Amino acid sequence: MNKGVQLYEGKAKKVFSTEDPEQLIVSYKDDATAFNGLKKGTIVGKGVINNQMSNRLMQMLEKAGVPTHYISELNERETLVKKVEIVPLEVIVRNISAGSFSKRYGVDEGIVFDSPTLEFSYKNDALGDPLINSYHALALKLATREELDQIRDMAFRVNECLKAFWKTCGVTLVDFKLEFGRLSNGKIVLADEISPDTCRLWDSATGEKLDKDRFRRDLGGVEDAYQEIMKRLNEHI
Ligand code: TMP
Repeated sequence: MNKGVQLYEGKAKKVFSTEDPEQLIVSYKDDATAFNGLKKGTIVGKGVINNQMSNRLMQMLEKAGVPTHYISELNERETLVKKVEIVPLEVIVRNISAGSFSKRYGVDEGIVFDSPTLEFSYKNDALGDPLINSYHALALKLATREELDQIRDMAFRVNECLKAFWKTCGVTLVDFKLEFGRLSNGKIVLADEISPDTCRLWDSATGEKLDKDRFRRDLGGVEDAYQEIMKRLNEHI
């Protein structure tokens, strides 16, 4: 599949057209941002890791019955995906308190929940991706009631599947962000990426952070953490 014109450049990826109007090529960059683009940097090798990790995990989810945008990996940074219209919601599932949850509700990080939580943010950089509830999402016509129900069910299924997989790698899945899209026939599929940029992944034995929080919080060892989490995945997939 040949790369056509660049349609879009985001913070971490570029998107290109192909000869097939229903298919796109995603190209992963090493650029890293945090705090809605205020903090900028490079994580050497991140694009390769995020591309490969996202593809392996999406293939696993497809097998578990979760439809995704994934078609095929073209090279170490590029993947052929189904074209979707992104539902402008960030769908966040949490198993353990951390990040904005801890900050918003004034609780320590690391509290294990009895059952996972789910929240939506409105994907809108100008507004800083504000938290939104399902009534607001319906009022803004971001998705239909049926789509929101499907998205919620799929997100929890993704959580069960990924939590179990990462456990076999000695890694605790703390929380993660998903995005969904509509195919041209209206079907909802999992889109975007699943990577250390979009998940919190803690070493189960030591609690060490093996994700983008090392960059967000200036913890050092960022590249090493990305390499380590990819190694764990490769050893257990
Ligand atoms: P939060 O605790 O900052 O709300 O983050 C929850 C999860 O979502 C965490 O795994 C990181 C991920 N995330 C993104 O993928 N993109 C973002 O822009 C933000 C803020 C978080």
